[in-house]
Amino acid sequence: MSRLVVISNRVAVPKARGAAGAQGGLAGALNAALKDRGGLWFGWSGQESEDRTGNMNVQRDGGVTTATIDLSTRDVDEYYNGYANSTLWPLFHYRIDLAEFENETGRGYERVNERFAESVMPLIEEDDIVWVHDYHLIPIGHRLREHGAKNRIGFFLHTPWPPTRLLTSLPFHERLVLTMLSYDLIGFQTEEWLSSFVHYCETELGADVDKASGRITHEGRTTTARSYPIGIDWDHFQAQGDTGEARQATQRLLASTRHRTGMIGVDRLDYSKGLPERIDGIGRFFDQNPERVRDLVFIQIAPPSREDVESYQKIRAELEQKTGQINGARSEVDMVPIRYVNQGYSHAELYGFFRAAKIGLVTPLRDGMNLVAKEYVAAQDPDDPGVLILSDFAGAAHQLDCDGKGALIVNPHSPDAFARAIEAALDMPLHERKSRYEAMIGTVRDENVQAWMKTFCGDLAGDLLPAN
Ligand code: F6P
Repeated sequence: MSRLVVISNRVAVPKARGAAGAQGGLAGALNAALKDRGGLWFGWSGQESEDRTGNMNVQRDGGVTTATIDLSTRDVDEYYNGYANSTLWPLFHYRIDLAEFENETGRGYERVNERFAESVMPLIEEDDIVWVHDYHLIPIGHRLREHGAKNRIGFFLHTPWPPTRLLTSLPFHERLVLTMLSYDLIGFQTEEWLSSFVHYCETELGADVDKASGRITHEGRTTTARSYPIGIDWDHFQAQGDTGEARQATQRLLASTRHRTGMIGVDRLDYSKGLPERIDGIGRFFDQNPERVRDLVFIQIAPPSREDVESYQKIRAELEQKTGQINGARSEVDMVPIRYVNQGYSHAELYGFFRAAKIGLVTPLRDGMNLVAKEYVAAQDPDDPGVLILSDFAGAAHQLDCDGKGALIVNPHSPDAFARAIEAALDMPLHERKSRYEAMIGTVRDENVQAWMKTFCGDLAGDLLPAN
């Protein structure tokens, strides 16, 4: 088996910014997947320094070697806070109203991609397969080719891919997408994002597309694009459930909610997660059912994220205001309807909270996949499972809807839809909760992160791809 080289902006190293709690799906998933297979993982250390000597921090842990570099303050500003998180992230999440289009940050993005390519190139050996992750590093495959890499190189996008007419609002969009055709294999979370990408290649680049095989041919080169839905680290997460930490977390939540039903949301504090809309939906439920305010307690765990970006500061302020309004209007001396917590928790504690909460709310306005939805299901007691309320616009809805027999699917823009779903979840009889849980659990268990990695890497290294 070839050695695997993974390249991503975020690497799960202990000192990385955001490592505690807000690290999110990508780093956790890659950590889990790499542990089994071994390999090299390259990316940003999460640290800022003005050191331009190209010093690399290399750490070995079992079969995994991590190699990270620092970025300068300007790099972080232009590449991470700028182009990646103020241009591509909002655009890829259909928030053109929040997207900033500045040539300067675009240049910073290109510069950092080149710096990553130069730094990782000497570490890549002839027989390695290389797997690049996410929107921060779209052009790096092309840069590696310019540096002479002949390896099989794959790319996986963890976010949605926007519809063509949205993407064309990005200055130099063709240039960005053309660089992607240097990859041998491109993976998306769902068929929906895949088909938007294929549509762009067909209509904007005039590429030849064979939809059945996913082959996209342009100027003599063929790239294959497919969907590979990411999953959770099932075994690891189940093992968390057996810890004292998880059991204590369950007890802590149950003791503090007493006779009320716990409803939980766990999200990075990001506007794509639809948190203000969720609070509005809960407010609508209380307005329509004032006699049930005492039946329910909503716990929102929202560790801060990307705090240097203005749109993230705004969402935080908005959420505090909306939560405060409902709590002000609905609290009593012994009861607060919404608990809003701004910190991250360990996986074991989250397992415990999920198990105690009889309703899980995962309602992003747009999300590549959303592993919290899968973790919520994985943590349920099969004999007395909770109900997952899931946004129609999360990638996970493609797998957990189960033809209407799995999660309760909602439109997160509609407060009335929220109110109806909360009411249905509160009143759902045990037999229906069980049958919905049973419809979802097989996918969550079997289509796990190890299977995801095995399929993608198998395709990348195998005969599926044409020789270029
Ligand atoms: O795809 C988006 C993503 O990489 C997630 O997988 C992860 O949860 C999040 O972004 C982390 O963002 P950041 O690295 O900016 O903290």
